[in-house]
Amino acid sequence: MTIVSLLSIIAKKQAENSLCHSRASGFHWMQTTGIHSGENEMATILIVYHSQTGKTQKMAETVAEGAKSIEGVEVVLKKAADATLEDLLAADGLAIGTPENFGYMSGMIKDFFDRTYVGAQEKVFRKPFVVFISAGNDGTGALRSIERIALGYKFKTVYSPVIAKGAITEEILNQCHELGATIAGGCQMHIY
Ligand SMILES: Cc1cc2nc3c(=O)[nH]c(=O)nc-3n(C[C@H](O)[C@H](O)[C@H](O)COP(=O)(O)O)c2cc1C
Repeated sequence: MTIVSLLSIIAKKQAENSLCHSRASGFHWMQTTGIHSGENEMATILIVYHSQTGKTQKMAETVAEGAKSIEGVEVVLKKAADATLEDLLAADGLAIGTPENFGYMSGMIKDFFDRTYVGAQEKVFRKPFVVFISAGNDGTGALRSIERIALGYKFKTVYSPVIAKGAITEEILNQCHELGATIAGGCQMHIY
């Protein structure tokens, strides 16, 4: 699904939502939209990142802004060292952000995976998942390593990764915002 089609679904559903709010109960809204969630149900998006010199952090904050732009979404933004198995299990969707270090994800992101893998098994099947990476000039090694691990967890990748090479440009930040809005919108509407 492209961002354009997803965002148009999100906009349509939100318009239907506010229309039905003005004239009927949440139950009626669920019937008319076909979305099987309570009207007050929040979707939680967990953003786990590591950053040494601030670039991935800037990307993470922008992914968080994008996710928060969707109504009915709660965002938990955590440095990898502080993120726990409980955070992962409680989340409806996960975004991972890392610098590329030595052609791999950063050690702190690997540590997050190491600490949560056993406890998460069988409990995160097809959990929606996206990745963003800040690299000096490459990023493919970090992406490949995360994708392999995501297969082990059985996460479901729901949008293309954002990879910044060098400076964090406006274009990259726009992509990060879109990434956050997309996973959040999809989780909030249970479409993944
Ligand atoms: C120890 C170390 C290893 C790195 N290895 C790579 C690499 O393999 N490929 C690459 O493109 N950039 C590499 N870089 C550059 C970082 O990925 C890049 O500066 C990134 O933007 C840093 O993100 P941050 O500001 O969030 O820490 C490396 C940097 C450091 C400090």
